[in-house]
Amino acid sequence: MTDAPIGIFDSGVGGLTVARAVKDALPNESILYIGDLEHSPYGPKKIADVRGYALDVLDDLVDQGVKMLVIACNTASAAMLRDARERYSVPVVEVIQPAVRRAVAATQNRRVGVIGTAGTINSRAYEDAFAAAPELQLFTAACPRFVEFVESGVTTGAEVLAVAEEYLAPLREADIDTLVLGCTHYPFLRGAISYVMGEKVTLVSSDTETANDVYRVLVSQQLERTASSPPSYHYEATGPSVSAFLDLAHRLIGRDIDAVDLVQTGTMHIIR
Ligand code: DGL
Repeated sequence: MTDAPIGIFDSGVGGLTVARAVKDALPNESILYIGDLEHSPYGPKKIADVRGYALDVLDDLVDQGVKMLVIACNTASAAMLRDARERYSVPVVEVIQPAVRRAVAATQNRRVGVIGTAGTINSRAYEDAFAAAPELQLFTAACPRFVEFVESGVTTGAEVLAVAEEYLAPLREADIDTLVLGCTHYPFLRGAISYVMGEKVTLVSSDTETANDVYRVLVSQQLERTASSPPSYHYEATGPSVSAFLDLAHRLIGRDIDAVDLVQTGTMHIIR
């Protein structure tokens, strides 16, 4: 079992930021990644639909024998974390709670911002997660166009900055000192977000915080891979073609992903 891969899932390529952070933190672990491009983006969709898509992908990862599930997507985490923990016997790590814990530890003035997709912000999942720290004041903002920018490979330039200024203005006015990047795509816009928010605002990113949580769960449950053979990295995507995934992955993460298998999840048979 400890030799089995860690299953990581996102609506598309954004979760590769989490996969990259898990690789950095745990270089001896194998990873099986699925991007649900067929249904991407999740952000504007109904929470109930997102829950269904996400559970189909997680079922597939469990059927393929992963030893742990990582929901590397804020919108999916917001939609179905509790269902996932009840449904599977393997441990489930998601992206919201690790980032919230870091933000609670980081803030000095107790004013924290969260940005994410419309689905994540409207679900109020971050309000629930921050409820354990009632002394904090939370300010949230949906930033729907950020995902569009990243998906088209645009992370700098006047348009990105203008949109960032507009979305982030209420958070600047709220005088937050800590901002949670509550979407797996946003680390690619870290430069623009930091530029607009100013150096004094600490940015908390789901990728590294989630990787720390994966490490903690693996070690505490004694699930670390001990084999000395090299780990494997396997990528799968749903949807009509692999090129959408590969092109974007190369643009955003680099060339170390050399192949992607096309799969179908849910009630359909998996084609490999
Ligand atoms: N991965 C999603 C998230 O972290 C963003 C992309 C999407 O809307 O599917 O919320």
